[in-house]
Amino acid sequence: MKVLITGSTGQVGSYLVDAMRGSAQVVAPTRAELDLQSEASIREAVRSVNPDWILHPAAYTAVDRAETERDLCFAINAAATRTFAEESLRINAGLVTFSTDYVFDGSADRAYREDDATAPINVYGESKLLAEQSLQEVGGLYFNFRTSWVYSARGNNFVKTMLRLASTRPELKVVADQQGCPSSAREIAACVTALVSRPKDELGGKAGNYHLAGQGETTWFGFAQEVIAQAKKLKPEMPWVEPEPVPSSAYVTPARRPANSRLCCDLARERLALSMPEWTKSIAEVVQELLAQQ
Ligand SMILES: NC(=O)c1ccc[n+]([C@@H]2O[C@H](COP(=O)([O-])OP(=O)(O)OC[C@H]3O[C@@H](n4cnc5c(N)ncnc54)[C@H](OP(=O)(O)O)[C@@H]3O)[C@@H](O)[C@H]2O)c1
Repeated sequence: MKVLITGSTGQVGSYLVDAMRGSAQVVAPTRAELDLQSEASIREAVRSVNPDWILHPAAYTAVDRAETERDLCFAINAAATRTFAEESLRINAGLVTFSTDYVFDGSADRAYREDDATAPINVYGESKLLAEQSLQEVGGLYFNFRTSWVYSARGNNFVKTMLRLASTRPELKVVADQQGCPSSAREIAACVTALVSRPKDELGGKAGNYHLAGQGETTWFGFAQEVIAQAKKLKPEMPWVEPEPVPSSAYVTPARRPANSRLCCDLARERLALSMPEWTKSIAEVVQELLAQQ
C-alpha cells in the first residue's frame, strides 16, 4: 500500500507518518514540496505519487488569525480539500480528511452528532464546513473525521502551553465555560491507521463524516487542572501554580468559540469499530513525554 500524507510537520500528520511507516510506503511531502495554496501543486503531487490512500491532516489551524486571513484560511482548508477530493476520485484512492467541532455553534445541550445542524461561529469553522460540503459534492471513498482539542508532545497545543505557563507565571486563569473533548494526536493517528489498513471493499458504503475524539468531556479549566495534576505527580519539586477558573468573557479572543464543543463518537464506534481512549489516560502519557523533553 502506498499513502500520501500531508502536514507531516503537524501534530496528527507526524503521528500518522510514524504509524503508517510499518505497513505502507509513505510519501510525506513538506510544505516546500507540496504547497496547499497551489492547486497545481496538489494535482501534480497526487498524480506523481498515485497513492492508494491520501491522508490529509494539513490545515490552516490558527483559529484567531483566520479572522483576519479569511482568504488564506479558505484556500488552505476548503479549496485544497476539494482538489484532494477530485484527485482521489480520479485515481480511485481513498481519502481521509479532518474537520472540527467548530462547525457547530455550541448551543446544543448535549454532545453533537454527525447529522446535527452545522452553524460555525468563526472563519476557521466556516472554512472547514465548506471543505466538508466539497467532500460530499465530489463523493468517492472519503472519511472526514471531526475532532477537537487536539494535543500531543509535538507542535503547539494547549497542554504544552499550560505546562509552560504553570511553571513560569504567578497565576494561571483558564476558561471554565466551554466544554469539549480533548483528543490525543497519537490516538487519532492510530485510529486512522487501523481504518486504512482494512481492505477497501469492507469500507464501501461507509464514507462520510465521523466524530473522533477522546472519550469523556471537560472544560478548558478541567483540562488544565488534569495537566497540572499530572505534572505535579511527575515533578513535585517544580513550582506549579493551580489554574483558576474564569468565564470566556474574561478572555476575549478574535475568534468566538462554541460553548459546547462535545462530540458524540458513537457512529465511528458502531460503523467503523474505531474509538479513542479516555482523554485522561492519554494525557498522562503526553505530560510525561513533555516533561522528559525539558
Ligand atoms: N489542533 C486542534 O485542536 C484541532 C481541532 C479540531 C480539528 N483539527 C484538525 O485536525 C487536523 C490536524 O490538526 P493538527 O493540530 O495536527 O495541525 P497542526 O499541528 O497545526 O499542523 C498543520 C500542518 O499543516 C501544514 N500546512 C499548513 N499550511 C500549509 C500549506 N499552505 N501547505 C502545506 N502544508 C501546510 C503545516 O505545515 P508547516 O509546519 O509547514 O506549517 C503542518 O504540518 C487539521 O485538519 C485541523 O484543522 C485540529
